[in-house]
Amino acid sequence: MTTTLHLSDKTLADIARNIAKYPPEQKQSAVMASLIAAQTEVGWVSPEVIETIATILGMPTIAVEEVATFYNMYDTKPIGKYKLVICTNLPCQLTHGETAATYLKETLGIGFNETTPCGTFTLKEGECMGACGDSPVMLVNNKRMCSFMSKEKIDVLLNELRAEGKAA
Ligand code: FES
Repeated sequence: MTTTLHLSDKTLADIARNIAKYPPEQKQSAVMASLIAAQTEVGWVSPEVIETIATILGMPTIAVEEVATFYNMYDTKPIGKYKLVICTNLPCQLTHGETAATYLKETLGIGFNETTPCGTFTLKEGECMGACGDSPVMLVNNKRMCSFMSKEKIDVLLNELRAEGKAA
């Protein structure tokens, strides 16, 4: 049986803030924001995170699990410090998206849904990010959008993240 977690006061306050946006009988509407808050603290959406959010929102565990496994911004397996998502949908593919994806795989030495042995990078394929004109497009840790990712710009980004990861 999966156990629940003791989330930090900050995360619980974040979840409470999102729950307060909805009428009390519809607090399950805060499930997506609550999962993001918990993922930010824990690093991924573990079975314990799912159980905890289900308990807080009064939802069946399976309903929370369905949300967590449907959307690709939730990581249901442990990931590296930096999650790199490259858009491989057709408009991006037609504008060097495939080249950028291949270069990332070669440079990092990993395939999609894999993490570098040092634990720094996880590479994932993403769906359209609504920025097709900026292709190739990448998202770092679900938040930072990177546009026109040529090989040179990928090198600069990876070096920056490596340095940042070491400094942290
Ligand atoms: S297809 Fe890649 S951002 Fe739209």
